[in-house]
Amino acid sequence: MGLIKHVYLIITLYMIQSTSSLSESFITKENLSEIPLNFLKLAKKPELVDYMVSIRRTLHENPELGYQEYETSKLIRNELDKLGIEYRYPVAVTGVVGYVGSGGPPFEGVEWEHKSKVPGKMHACGHDAHVSMLLGAAKMLQDHRHDIRGTVILVFQPAEEGGGGAKRMLDEGILKKVNAIFGLHVSVKFPIGTVAGRPGPLLAASGFFDAVISGKGGHAAIPHHAVDPIVAASNIIISLQNLVSREADPLESQTLNKELYLQVVTVAKFQGGGAFNVIPDDVTIGGTFRAFSKEGFIKLKRRIEEVIISQAGIHRCNASVDFNEIENPMFPPMVNDKDLHGHFQRVSSDMLGAKSILEATPLMGAEDFAFFAEAIPGYFFFLGMQNKSGEKLAAGHSPYYRVNEDVLPYGAAFHASLVTRYLLEHGVGSNIENVGFHVES
Ligand SMILES: *[C@@H]1O[C@H](CO)[C@@H](O)[C@H](O)[C@H]1NC(C)=O
Ligand SMILES: *[C@@H]1O[C@H](CO)[C@@H](O)[C@H](O)[C@H]1NC(C)=O
Ligand SMILES: *[C@@H]1O[C@H](CO)[C@@H](O)[C@H](O)[C@H]1NC(C)=O
Ligand SMILES: [Zn+2]
Repeated sequence: MGLIKHVYLIITLYMIQSTSSLSESFITKENLSEIPLNFLKLAKKPELVDYMVSIRRTLHENPELGYQEYETSKLIRNELDKLGIEYRYPVAVTGVVGYVGSGGPPFEGVEWEHKSKVPGKMHACGHDAHVSMLLGAAKMLQDHRHDIRGTVILVFQPAEEGGGGAKRMLDEGILKKVNAIFGLHVSVKFPIGTVAGRPGPLLAASGFFDAVISGKGGHAAIPHHAVDPIVAASNIIISLQNLVSREADPLESQTLNKELYLQVVTVAKFQGGGAFNVIPDDVTIGGTFRAFSKEGFIKLKRRIEEVIISQAGIHRCNASVDFNEIENPMFPPMVNDKDLHGHFQRVSSDMLGAKSILEATPLMGAEDFAFFAEAIPGYFFFLGMQNKSGEKLAAGHSPYYRVNEDVLPYGAAFHASLVTRYLLEHGVGSNIENVGFHVES
């Protein structure tokens, strides 16, 4: 979906008491500020880089789509087996959740049904890179498992491209007793060696709709004998375009967090008719709607349905609207936790220097990591990979999309540093019972 249909892979934390051997470890409270650079050094070692590059290339050559990631999933499990990392599988059909650190996984596996195949696939958004970075982090964390003050959970999520894999994983309880969650997405908007984040809203809530406008077909030269759904649908589209300009409060931005009342409604699909002289029986339109506030989003959804049905009626047509929430669950807005933003800034600045932390502007794209971040404190950020010199890399979802493999060590080092430091700083005795779910309808 959207601007940047994000996939990411995540690391989360599960707090359990642990004992730590301090022997020649850099993961200590005394060395907090050195942890990120140490992980970056480890991640840049040729063996680890080669490992991540080879995983990324294997995945790139064998792309699989939502809930069909069987080979991808098998590869991840093979790697975790080799590393001696315990995991839970299957989670949400093809998802895998690994556990590194001192506590064992108290979870049970759950089966999920399979879904149909889709042709025409490509890792055009960096998912392959995300998997290999998380495996790179897994390797480093496993090597230092005795120094980790708790358990790190590695979430390998299926179906990020609209199927809401994160929601299913959440429904299967993977975040129970988890304190915080981090996710990243590679980005060609920022140069390699930089990161970009922001506290508060980062990505929009997003939903889809499909509507069938039915009239009565007939000869194009005798329109009065027909009920023309093409004209009805055309007017519906114009009316939908008035929702944001006429009904969203332009001043709301002053009371909410600046700039964040932005909304978008786009009709991207219009299907009807097949001949120049025949009025069809019906027309199908479809599109997406986005908003940053939950209230704005819910209102937009209600108004889209009302406008389509009422405007169809004006033209003597009938209409049905389907938000298709089972196939494409609506994504909540992605809101970054403010404290975790501070943590992210400290870790980034220790690893890359303060100048390399950039501010991400909010985007109308959506990301299903938002389901996790809605349930527990979460933080999502962009990892720059734009080529500094020479040839510019194409944007996500372009058929010319390429991953700059130099980004892999940074991703692995970030995953490892964010969590190990978080555990040290919020260490033993932190209030796990304060962590709960809230269920969204
Ligand atoms: C960790 O900190 C101690 C004490 O400040 C220092 O002596 C040691 O060199 C540091 N170790 C690493 C790996 O940075
Ligand atoms: C719309 O629905 C009503 C009630 O079912 C039906 O009588 C009418 O023929 C329909 N109109 C069109 C154009 O399909
Ligand atoms: C970056 O640009 C240089 C110079 O054009 C090129 O040789 C290199 O392959 C590029 N790197 C990537 C990852 O595209
Ligand atoms: Zn993506």
